[in-house]
Amino acid sequence: MKKISMDLIRCTEAAAIAASKYIGSGDKKGADLAATEAMRNRLNKMDFCAEVVIGEGIKDDSYGLFGGERVGHRCEEMSIGTYDLACDVLEGTTPTANGGPEAISTLSITSRGHMWYTNKFYMMKMAYGQRIRDKVQLSLDDPLDETIRLIRKATNKKNHQILVCVLDRPRHSVIISLLREWGVRIKLIQDCDVSAAVAACYHDEIDLLYGVGGAPEAVISACAIKCLKGDFQGQVYEEVNKNNLGTPYGKVLQLNDIVKGECAFACTGVTNGCLVKGVKWGLRPTTESLFMRSSSNTIRRVLTEHGN
Ligand code: FBP
Repeated sequence: MKKISMDLIRCTEAAAIAASKYIGSGDKKGADLAATEAMRNRLNKMDFCAEVVIGEGIKDDSYGLFGGERVGHRCEEMSIGTYDLACDVLEGTTPTANGGPEAISTLSITSRGHMWYTNKFYMMKMAYGQRIRDKVQLSLDDPLDETIRLIRKATNKKNHQILVCVLDRPRHSVIISLLREWGVRIKLIQDCDVSAAVAACYHDEIDLLYGVGGAPEAVISACAIKCLKGDFQGQVYEEVNKNNLGTPYGKVLQLNDIVKGECAFACTGVTNGCLVKGVKWGLRPTTESLFMRSSSNTIRRVLTEHGN
């Protein structure tokens, strides 16, 4: 994975630049299509063969890269790819179309067969950083008040010092009411829970990401979180919509159920966010990206001034 690091960053950079032309356009589909084509072109130039395990598409009626698609110019000569790939070419179609914050282009990679697959749309997710993981074991099976108690214990914070990030959806009204009742601070986000899950494990500001969001996004987040030595649990939820939290399906999955072995994560900002800045259009388009590998735990922040 080390050898292909720069090429993976080039993929998210290309998709972010393509998507950034649609900032504020109101055209979610156009942005998604442009990002998808740019990322697919770049992936197909890479000297590898990877299978898209977690792709874009069905929920958002978008253009792929779909699950099962093989990418990389080595695929012609290989019957089985070497890597599993999860990509969200444009995580944050709405903020891109509205000129809002936190949109990124992102992908994660593992060795072949090491990435959990789901065709489900939603998961209950919980993400937190190493400073909590080293001291306590949180569980999605626990009631939320027990989780908050354990966070207090691990961080020596009081409730009003703890910050929980939750997607701002009516389906989370009970979770939000409980946190408010206990005096826990809440960061409500409109979209982009990949950035939020990564930020919960990267910055000290957010203690926990909690709630139901996209299942594909959960796999990408889990890879980044493994690289950051944080922790993640997820459980597929069915019958979810804006208003309905849905019902659990299957068991609670641990980080290592979702990502086995070594993995890597790349993201490039489309619009400004808590992880990376968005594409800046000056004399040359400038991008900011993050790249991480679980085997080194190095966080590489890459600022690129692109040729035009
Ligand atoms: P898209 O950009 O692919 O639409 O996803 C954005 C997102 O906010 C994710 O970050 C999140 O996991 C999911 O959508 C939440 O889904 P919903 O908007 O249906 O609640």
